Parts: sequence; C-alpha cells; structure tokens
Amino acid sequence: MYSKLKIILLWALLSVFPLVTFAQSDGAAITKSIPLITLNNGVKMPILGFGTLSLNGATGENSVAEAISLGYRLLDTATTYGNEESVGKGIKKSGIDREELFITTKLWVDDMGYEKAKKAFDVSLKKLDVDYVDLYLIHRPRPREDIKGSWKAMEELYKAGKIKAIGVSNFDSEQLEELLSYAEIKPAVNQIETHTFFHQFETQELLQKMGIQMEAWSPLAGGRNDIFSNPVLATIGKKHNKSNAQVALRWIIQRGIITIPRTSDKEYMLENLNIFDFELDNDDLKQIATLNLNTTQFPEWE
Ligand SMILES: NC(=O)c1ccc[n+]([C@@H]2O[C@H](COP(=O)([O-])OP(=O)(O)OC[C@H]3O[C@@H](n4cnc5c(N)ncnc54)[C@H](OP(=O)(O)O)[C@@H]3O)[C@@H](O)[C@H]2O)c1
Repeated sequence: MYSKLKIILLWALLSVFPLVTFAQSDGAAITKSIPLITLNNGVKMPILGFGTLSLNGATGENSVAEAISLGYRLLDTATTYGNEESVGKGIKKSGIDREELFITTKLWVDDMGYEKAKKAFDVSLKKLDVDYVDLYLIHRPRPREDIKGSWKAMEELYKAGKIKAIGVSNFDSEQLEELLSYAEIKPAVNQIETHTFFHQFETQELLQKMGIQMEAWSPLAGGRNDIFSNPVLATIGKKHNKSNAQVALRWIIQRGIITIPRTSDKEYMLENLNIFDFELDNDDLKQIATLNLNTTQFPEWE
C-alpha cells in the first residue's frame, strides 16, 4: 500500500517536472533536469540539445551515441550536413527508445517546392531510419525558391503525423510576415544565429509577439572570435566556477532560448550539459551586453 502511494507520488512529480537522466564523467548516474519548452502547438522540446554540423561518418555516429548516453535528447541535423545517416546510426547505437528523443532535421534550398519537399522529407526519414521527426525546418528562405509550396507540403506531413512540429530557420521579420499571411499552421520555431557576439534581442521580442519559439544556432559562435578565451566571459566564469562555454550557453538558455551546441569531445559534451546549477546576475548580463557586435560571425553563409 505504502509503496503504491510512493509510485503514485513519484509519477505525479515526474509529470510536473519532466526529467532527463544523464551520467557523470565517472559513470555515476545522476539526475538533472533539462527544462522543456512548450511550443505553440503544445509539443515539448528540450531547451538544450546537441548540434551535429560537420559531425559526419563514424565521428557523427559515435558523437551522437555518446551525447545520448550522457543525457542529450534533442538532436539537430539537416539534409545539407550530409550526416542524417550517421545520426540515425548513432541513435540506434545508443539503444534508447526513439520516443525519448527529439529529432530536428531541415529542408534544404535545392529541395524547395511542394513535390520536392515531400520527396526530400521521405529521404530524410529513410536516412535517419525513423518514421517521424519531431521538428522539420525550412533551412534557408532563398526568395527565389518556392517557400509557399514547401510550407504546404510540410503542413500536410504535419497533419499526417509524420512531423510533430514545423518551423523555419534564418527567416527575418519580413519573410516571417509573408509566411504567416498564407500559413494554415504557424511556424513553431525560428532557428537563427545567436551568441554572445550577436544578441538578437529585437528578433527575440518579435518572435515572442508572433508566438514563435526562438532557437539559437552556433551558440558558441562556432568557436570564432576567440570566444573560449574571451576575458569578459572568463571573469564571469571565474565568479561562478564555470568555463567561457558554460557562461555563453547559460546566457542563452536564461533568456528562454533553445540551443544546440556541437562537439565531438566527451568532456565538452558534459561541460555543456552542466549549465543548470548557476544563474547569471544583472552585473554579468551588463558585461555580456558589451560583447554584442550585432552582426553575423558567418558572413560566408549570407
Ligand atoms: N540553421 C542553420 O542555418 C544553422 C547554422 C549553423 C549551425 N546550426 C546548428 O547549430 C549547431 C551548433 O553550431 P556550430 O556547430 O556552428 O557551432 P557551436 O556549437 O557554436 O561551436 C562548436 C565549436 O565549439 C567547440 N566547443 C564546443 N563545446 C566546447 C566547450 N565546452 N569548450 C570549448 N570548446 C567547445 C567545438 O569544439 P570541438 O570541435 O573540438 O568539439 C566546436 O569547435 C550546429 O551543429 C547545427 O546543428 C544551424
């Protein structure tokens, strides 16, 4: 009777505070929570995940399996990364149930348009070796491509249960307004470049008004601009006993933004998970405000 009550209480607690379990470097199992963000269609997405750009072949497979074993549940890939197969193999290797994961992939520019989008999505499913994805994004809004037709295809796949949430990436306000003018289903997410050198506060406000969740790509600026030896981040890190990377990631999730740092290094994977036990104060935030260059650190992708 007593143990039955304990199970009911535990179940009630876990329903209110969903937890992700991950292991410490010494292998001892610990339980920490990666908060879940509720998207505008009710789907829940972890605030912190694992990016996979340039993690290809065996490195991709092993990194994904390792990241999952350490506690990452959100995986971010894309057709154009050429690693959906490796991500799929990494998932299989991890042995975790597919339902426990949140998988994002993206529709590339070459596959835009109603028919092509449907075909490209099928190819992604096959490569990932899954029967649905959690989030499917239009990767880049090239104006000459058929965004409207692509969105219609994505809406149909969503209604058919093949995609749990649909969204966009790298859309500016005008491109979003245009999409909203004909969309039957509002985008759930806009994934854009955001890090300590490109703050995107105005965009965040706009997305909040639109009811679209912001997600930060390259949260560590892809290692550019000497982020890992930046003296401002180092001073803040010293105060909290954290690394530059942890301060940079904490700053993003503390703003309620989902993010997906990438690494093939196990210690970095753990470090990047370990950002839920401290809080940046107003002084820290003022210091980080001075780092804003307010422009992309990836001009080659513009
Ligand atoms: N939608 C889009 O257009 C778009 C564009 C770019 C990226 N993305 C997504 O966003 C993800 C993240 O962006 P990103 O891959 O460009 O770069 P990132 O996560 O900002 O930075 C990755 C770099 O940081 C290093 N690093 C990671 N954790 C570290 C730590 N704790 N300490 C020191 N160094 C650390 C990695 O080193 P190692 O290599 O040594 O591990 C790597 O060089 C991508 O993987 C992709 O999924 C999306």
